[in-house]
Amino acid sequence: MNFAGAVAVVTGAGGGIGSALGERFHDAGATVVLSDRSESSVQAVADRLNGRRANSAYVVVADVSLEEENERLVHEARQRAGTIDVFFANAGVGMGTDLSSSEVDWTTSFDVNVHAHRWAAKYLLPEWLAAGRGYFASTASAAGVLAQIGSAPYSVTKHAAVAFAEWLSITYGSRGITVSCLCPQGVNTAMLRGGDRPGIDSNAGNVVRAAGVVLEPSEVADIVHDAMVAERFFIYPHSEVADYVKVKANEHERWLGGMRKLQKRVFGI
Ligand SMILES: NC(=O)c1ccc[n+]([C@@H]2O[C@H](COP(=O)([O-])OP(=O)(O)OC[C@H]3O[C@@H](n4cnc5c(N)ncnc54)[C@H](O)[C@@H]3O)[C@@H](O)[C@H]2O)c1
Repeated sequence: MNFAGAVAVVTGAGGGIGSALGERFHDAGATVVLSDRSESSVQAVADRLNGRRANSAYVVVADVSLEEENERLVHEARQRAGTIDVFFANAGVGMGTDLSSSEVDWTTSFDVNVHAHRWAAKYLLPEWLAAGRGYFASTASAAGVLAQIGSAPYSVTKHAAVAFAEWLSITYGSRGITVSCLCPQGVNTAMLRGGDRPGIDSNAGNVVRAAGVVLEPSEVADIVHDAMVAERFFIYPHSEVADYVKVKANEHERWLGGMRKLQKRVFGI
């Protein structure tokens, strides 16, 4: 795909990976619609981009954990920017730990990390299928193809996000719908530092840090841009993730043993 002249919507664009994606697509010539649940962070990103090119970045504040907010986001983005060529469902939450994770941890994780993707797709697809083109991308995680030591809700919901993206590609790929799924390991964002729940989620963050190199959001955004230009499904900014996936598929017992060792290194059990 070509970002020049395209309209790209990015959720979770108030910071971290989402704002870097918005900025990278904008640099490539796209008009961007930046969305997040609070206005202040996302408006600051849009102001910066509009300072570079007038009327090229719009803001739609939306809580993507609710179906009606996804519907409104798709509708308002189309109204403001004229169309949607790319929708990047990037907003995510890192909540919960082990079996003691609360019902809120589980429900919110499913709402934001999984249901938001299908709700957005539900309101995007009719127009895209009629036009015979549209690009849906989502941020899952390396946890979605491997596992998230330290957080059952994150591990399970990111697998579901990957499964949904694959299903979308299989079902609509021959009707002009392109799908990509971003699966990073550690990225230097608020989420890795414990987000708005410091201390609760930082165990999972410690595991991610112990697992390998932590990339900057701008490095991830460059890799995503190039992968989407090439229309690749899986986007692994950490190349070792593809190797771990092969070990998981071919030598599953060895992979499980290695993951137990990593857990012991981080948690001591
Ligand atoms: N940082 C990492 O190491 C890492 C690794 C793999 C995957 N990810 C994924 O990357 C994506 C972006 O996360 P990040 O690392 O940039 O962290 P982040 O915390 O900086 O960004 C997450 C964004 O999602 C938004 N968000 C959360 N709930 C929302 C809701 N209900 N409605 C609207 N917006 C909501 C937050 O406001 C925030 O701006 C997430 O899906 C995350 O799971 C992150």
